[in-house]
Amino acid sequence: MMRETSRQALLLGGQPLEGIAALSLPQYAWQFRRISCLIEAEALLTSSPPPLGVILLEGLLASAPRHLERVLNLVPDLLWVALFPPHSLQDERTVRFIARYCHACLPLPLHPDQANHVLESTLAMASLLGRADSHPGHATPSRAGVSLVGSSPAIQTLMRDIDKIAAVDAPVLITGESGTGKELTARLIHTRSARHTGPFNAVNCGALPAGLIQSELFGHERGAFTGADRRKVGIIESTSGGTLFLDEIGDLPLELQVNLLRFLEDHRFLRLGAQRESEVDVRVLAATHVDLEGAVREGRFREDLYHRLNVLQARTPPLRERPEDIEQLANHFFQQFRREASRRVRGFSHDSLITMRQHAWPGNVRELINRVRRAMVMCEQRLITPDALGLERRNGLSREGVSLEQIRDGAEREAVIAALARNKQQVLHAARELGVSRATLYRLIEKHHLHRTLEERA
Ligand SMILES: Nc1ncnc2c1ncn2[C@@H]1O[C@H](COP(=O)(O)OP(=O)(O)OP(=O)(O)O)[C@@H](O)[C@H]1O
Ligand SMILES: [Mg+2]
Repeated sequence: MMRETSRQALLLGGQPLEGIAALSLPQYAWQFRRISCLIEAEALLTSSPPPLGVILLEGLLASAPRHLERVLNLVPDLLWVALFPPHSLQDERTVRFIARYCHACLPLPLHPDQANHVLESTLAMASLLGRADSHPGHATPSRAGVSLVGSSPAIQTLMRDIDKIAAVDAPVLITGESGTGKELTARLIHTRSARHTGPFNAVNCGALPAGLIQSELFGHERGAFTGADRRKVGIIESTSGGTLFLDEIGDLPLELQVNLLRFLEDHRFLRLGAQRESEVDVRVLAATHVDLEGAVREGRFREDLYHRLNVLQARTPPLRERPEDIEQLANHFFQQFRREASRRVRGFSHDSLITMRQHAWPGNVRELINRVRRAMVMCEQRLITPDALGLERRNGLSREGVSLEQIRDGAEREAVIAALARNKQQVLHAARELGVSRATLYRLIEKHHLHRTLEERA
């Protein structure tokens, strides 16, 4: 069972709707991320798209049709379900939009059973499309990846750490920015461990509503609370013999942290409403993109749980700390998505490779995947341009709002990165090539925050 895609959806354009609230009840257990503004939706879809989107077309279509079109086109794997008031079908534009961009549609007001059925079947289709794409010879969606691409010292360190961690059975804390490969790292630890034949289940602690998380994780007995008409096996129990990946562990409510701590100590847990504890053999990997130590200091995260989870650590480095991996990653995803792109597209222009190195990649590898995939579909030339990637080439010429100092800084950073990469991170050789002293180059490495790459190589 893969919980990562379980019943999570983006709700776009939504004022609170009665039918939607009903779908969040335990018997349906849908979790909606509500977003009403297209700019916010674009940011979310570029960094961490869910498999399913629900959209209230009416207001958005009237106010920003072109922007809406762009947002609906952004993630090819995401399937949309349109909600519409029956009268809106008299409008041809609405009908065209639904037919062109949506996988299914539902009339308002929503009937929870019917809506649940449609959402379930759309989610199942999204998952099938993902699997079909991942067959050899087809474009592989990012979700199916099971290897780390990259050869920077930082990635080599991570790979070595994964192998060491996979050989033992202790809890692991995986830290790293959004989109850097925390979940991929967790999957690799699982597939390389003795548990690889058991299940791998992922739970996003931040996405589960506080009221549901306890019964989702630990399960409940029949009659444990109003509406619990059957016994429910929790995720921990269903991961027996395998690996449980607790994503965004910093979001786990304090009152559940103690239950998790108990479980980590003796592998025993109590189903909600049960008289006796049960025992299960599960390895726990946890991930966070927030500073857990800070959360401990502020009293939002239990110190004892932090230490229990933090027995082993893995850190997924951000892309800007390993610019030498960008070209390899871009080519890797280019090969994966070849089949869905125009045959004319052959690769990346020199300019786009330089621009990708200059970009700060706040969404990291996930952002890179989305930009490459979109560019492959949209590009009209033989080589992908910075424009098609949605990136602007910084060419050293003055642009509005950019100071000379910023331009100099950018060029300096680029030169240092390139020299270090050409010289296999050997500071002495890179300094010689750049015509500066070793001390000066160290100062520049500090200034541009490039020291981590070197440390990891050492
Ligand atoms: N080194 C890598 N090589 C190949 N693919 C990668 C690499 N790192 C990340 N990816 C891919 O990038 C995407 C994002 O990775 P993943 O979901 O593991 O990141 P994350 O750190 O869990 O992100 P978030 O914090 O947003 O949950 C996935 O499709 C993953 O397969
Ligand atoms: Mg993740």
